Amino acid sequence: MNTLINDIEPYTTMQGDLDVQKIRLDFPVLNQLVNGKPLIYLDNAATTQKPKQVIDSIVNYYQFANANIHRGIHTLAERATAEYEATRKSLSTFINSPSPEQVIFTRGTTESINLVAFTYGKSVLKLGDEILVSALEHHSNLVPWLMIAKETGAVVKIIPMNDEGELLIEEYQKMLSEKVKIVAINHVSNSLGTINPVKQMIAMAHGVGAVVVVDGAQSVSHLDIDVQDLDADFYALSSHKFYGPTGIGALYGKRALLENMPPYQGGGEMIKDVFYNSFTVNELPYKFEAGTPNIADTVALKAAIDYIQRISKVKIRDHENVLLAHATKLLSEIDGLKIIGQAKEKVSVLSFVIDGVHHQDIGILLDQEGIAVRTGHHCTQPLMERCGIAGTTRASFAMYNTLEEINQLQWGLTKVLKMLR
Ligand code: ALA
Repeated sequence: MNTLINDIEPYTTMQGDLDVQKIRLDFPVLNQLVNGKPLIYLDNAATTQKPKQVIDSIVNYYQFANANIHRGIHTLAERATAEYEATRKSLSTFINSPSPEQVIFTRGTTESINLVAFTYGKSVLKLGDEILVSALEHHSNLVPWLMIAKETGAVVKIIPMNDEGELLIEEYQKMLSEKVKIVAINHVSNSLGTINPVKQMIAMAHGVGAVVVVDGAQSVSHLDIDVQDLDADFYALSSHKFYGPTGIGALYGKRALLENMPPYQGGGEMIKDVFYNSFTVNELPYKFEAGTPNIADTVALKAAIDYIQRISKVKIRDHENVLLAHATKLLSEIDGLKIIGQAKEKVSVLSFVIDGVHHQDIGILLDQEGIAVRTGHHCTQPLMERCGIAGTTRASFAMYNTLEEINQLQWGLTKVLKMLR
């Protein structure tokens, strides 16, 4: 494989800031016209774009290593297995898991949470037990709990928030009792960008013996994740939200919990021995990885982690904070625009509504200007209801976005509003 020039040079300017123009060269998708205008991609909370290093990794895998893993003794099978397991090690270090076996590969955050609900949840919950879910949750960290509550007779209760989109920690404290068996919270809200005080919330839940499931889908691209420092029982994440491929994610779990949980799906790989009338279960992590997994994309996830680590999360976060501050200031100047979600601790997500204008119309017309944003309820319908709205327009920024693109967003919105009002 050729070494890209960007693989050996730093990603910082002479002043020590992020060299965004150099980063952009790694993301071929950004270099195109959409509807005749240069693409401005501001839908990063939905999915981030992939650097060439990740794309090349997928191509290389299929060109030089493709085989099924853990089953073959031939060279390609060993090569594919080594690459797949290298990602597990890399991800384990990235989130500071005590061991790679505690990192289970899944299709993504949704599957990780369903895995916990339908194994751990199903085996511990009983009539009258409580599951606390925050008001900020994505449907993927609410619906599985509603489903499992229906099956077990447990009750789902909602941790409330204030109008800024911050969870009410005193109310949460009052809700905690020995009836609470599971607390399900996101680290970062996908709709509003709020960073929740998960470390504190986990410690509080542990005070009553509850287990905490953290939805980390939106946090990994912005924050340093240390599952041991958080003392998280489970932490779910999706590769495609942090510059890796879609269709691959992971569930971190504490060893004792994972070892005691029943398997999730049956099939190859998750078994040790099978008889016509019984089977024995494989050890971690394979116990939860039935069937041939998404090998190529798992391999490429390592390239995404390497990429982020070379640039540094701190530098990425600093840059995104500058973008968020600039966007908040510029968009607040637009007549009738209201930002939804003004938490003190936020990542670079800006959700807003504009008086008398439907969010979908804004999204469609911005697209005509080459500007990609997300509109709607963002898979958080109850949260939108709590805010008294049907949906928002959401601009979410990543390491490759620029101040100039935000100026263009403001210009685009002003133009769109002239057409709609
Ligand atoms: N959950 C993703 C989003 O917030 C799809 O857009």
